[in-house]
This record gives sequence, structure tokens and C-alpha cells, in this order.
Amino acid sequence: MKVNGTPTRTIWRAEDGAGVEIIDQTKLPHAFVTTRLETLDDAARAIKDMLVRGAPLIGATAAYGMALAMRADSSDEALTAAHDQLYATRPTAVNLRWALADMKRVLSPLSPSQRENAAWLRAAELCDEDVAINEAIGDHGLDLFGEAWEKKGKTGTLNALTHCNAGWLATVDWGTALAPIYKAHDAGLPVHVWVDETRPRSQGASLTAWELNQHGVPHTVIVDNVGGHLMQHGMVDLCIVGTDRTTAAGDVCNKIGTYLKALAAHDNGVPFYVALPSPTIDWSIKDGLKDIPIEERSGEEVSVITGRTESGEVVSVTITPEGSPCGNWGFDVTPARYVTALVTERGVCRATEEGLKSLFPDVAGN
Ligand code: MRU
Repeated sequence: MKVNGTPTRTIWRAEDGAGVEIIDQTKLPHAFVTTRLETLDDAARAIKDMLVRGAPLIGATAAYGMALAMRADSSDEALTAAHDQLYATRPTAVNLRWALADMKRVLSPLSPSQRENAAWLRAAELCDEDVAINEAIGDHGLDLFGEAWEKKGKTGTLNALTHCNAGWLATVDWGTALAPIYKAHDAGLPVHVWVDETRPRSQGASLTAWELNQHGVPHTVIVDNVGGHLMQHGMVDLCIVGTDRTTAAGDVCNKIGTYLKALAAHDNGVPFYVALPSPTIDWSIKDGLKDIPIEERSGEEVSVITGRTESGEVVSVTITPEGSPCGNWGFDVTPARYVTALVTERGVCRATEEGLKSLFPDVAGN
């Protein structure tokens, strides 16, 4: 995607080959800042402190983190330690486990002297694959937007609602849930996006809105509790969100609050689509409520909000009384029965074990 007209990815190897460049997403939307990762610790901190976030980008950063680790020490011990350190950064997005397992599979059989080069190559490949996967999700999702537009009689505006940020900032490029939105907009469909603010970290208000602005997609930021009201009044034609982990039976774990939107969509007959790259499927589990670890983060993310003053200064303020504890669960699980369909790089399927297996017979259960 483009930033101020310049094609940009969210992560790339630095020109001197000795580091990795990322967009520091904690600075958006107030400033577009790139930062350099030079060590394994830098990569682990970037994931943990959410300079990078979004399931696919967490995986890509971990892959590059392994390359940075191999640059410093390519022994067997260092390989295992790097894997374990990166794996411990965030618990919910399964892409992290997937990318680290892939890197370990490629690097383990090699001699230490071969590992650094192989790690850079494989990390770059994983990034390119992510871009291709997301673009394909965009193409398949575009068909659903086309259907919704037909159903609407091709009049007015096609209103999509999304939660959190599942755009290009959450991936290497294109995004998952936003890829079909970009494709639909570029194809001339009159798409308008309701952007859930997505407290506590406000990924919708600060990242999704920023992305859509950059691409010129009409949108409106709403607070998290508005979606149900809009759906009751026919103001949402479809919902589309991303996922951090999808079970083999189609349960979907995504940013906290996704479940409530799915319930509202179900009650109002609004299609609820989930867009996902196949590395987000955890084939080893079926019951999302029981088997997916839900990240709990600091209560400070709830009590303190950051914003820009009229003079452009970025400041943080506390909004809760002193002494009130805050709870901060990062994700929730939407049971498959509330998901109208899953949009993957291989096509659209029902959110069931059979549906996923029909698209991924070669991977399911392996
Ligand atoms: O906590 P975050 O910002 O990493 O959460 C991101 C999400 O919940 C996204 O919706 C999800 O990773 C899918 S992104 C393609």
C-alpha cells in the first residue's frame, strides 16, 4: 500500500543487510515513523510492546527476529533460545508459532555457518508469501462485496463494519479484512466503512482510520458500542474482521469485542465474514473457548489514553479514578455458528471443519 503516495510494506530488511526496518505503529496516527531492529531483543520488544502487531505481521517480525539472532550467534543453543524468546512475546496469534516453527524447520538441519543467510532468505520469502496470500483474500472477498452490492440493488452506499485493525498494517501488505475493502473500492464499488474505535488500544481509530485515509476509502470512526445500533437500523450491509487464531472447526479468536459484533450481526441478519490467511488456522484445536490462550495486558492500557492536542503535542491522560483496578483481556472467541463464512486465500468456505477441510485438504490435520 502507499504512504503519502510511496509504496510501503510494514517490514523489510535494511539496505545495509544488517538490520530490519519496521513502522513504529505506536506512533500512528500522529506520526509516521520507521525504526530499525538490530538484535533479537529488539525484535522481541517490538512484538511485545506492539510497535508491530496484527497476527501476520507478528509472524513476519518473529521470522526476521530469527535472522537477527542467527547474525549474532548461529549455534544450536542460540537457535533454540531465539525461538523460545520470540515465542514468549505474545500468546494468542498462532502465526507467531507457525512462523517460528517454519524458521526452525529450515534452519535446524543446516550447519551454523549456513544459517544466517538461510534465515534472511526464508524470512523474506515468508513476507512475500504473506503479501500474495492477502491479495488473494482480497480477490475472494471482493466477490462477497459484489454479491452484497447486487443484493442492495446497486443503489446508495455499501456499508461495511470492521473491528480493530486487520489492514495492511497488521500484515506485510494488503491486510486481511481490509484487502477486500481496498479491492472493492478500487473496483469502483461505493464502499463506506464503519470503523470500530477498538478500545483499549484504539487500533481502529488510530490505525484502520489512518490506512483508509491514506487510500481514500470513505469511512466513519465509531465507538465500540455503536455497531449494534447501526445494524438494528439497516445501516450495515456486512461485517468483516480478521482473526488471530481460527480453530479447525471454524471458531474465531480476534480482538476483544468481536464476539459482541457477531452476536449483533446474527440478531439482525447481517453477514459476518472473517478473513484469514491459512497460517492463522490452528489445526491442532477445535474448541476455541477452551483451547485458545487469551492475552491479558496491563490495566494501564485501559486507564490511560493518548492523543494529540490542538497544538499537535501528543499527550497521555488518565481517565479512571485513582485506586480503581482495570481488567484488560485482549481477545475473545466468536463461535463458528455466528460466522457466515471464512474468506481465505483459497476461496470462501463455511466456518466448519468440513468447510475448512474442503479448501485445505492437504494441510488439515497435518
Ligand atoms: O492486539 P493486536 O493489535 O495485535 O490485534 C490485532 C487483531 O486483533 C487483528 O484483527 C488480527 O490480528 C487479524 S490481522 C490481519
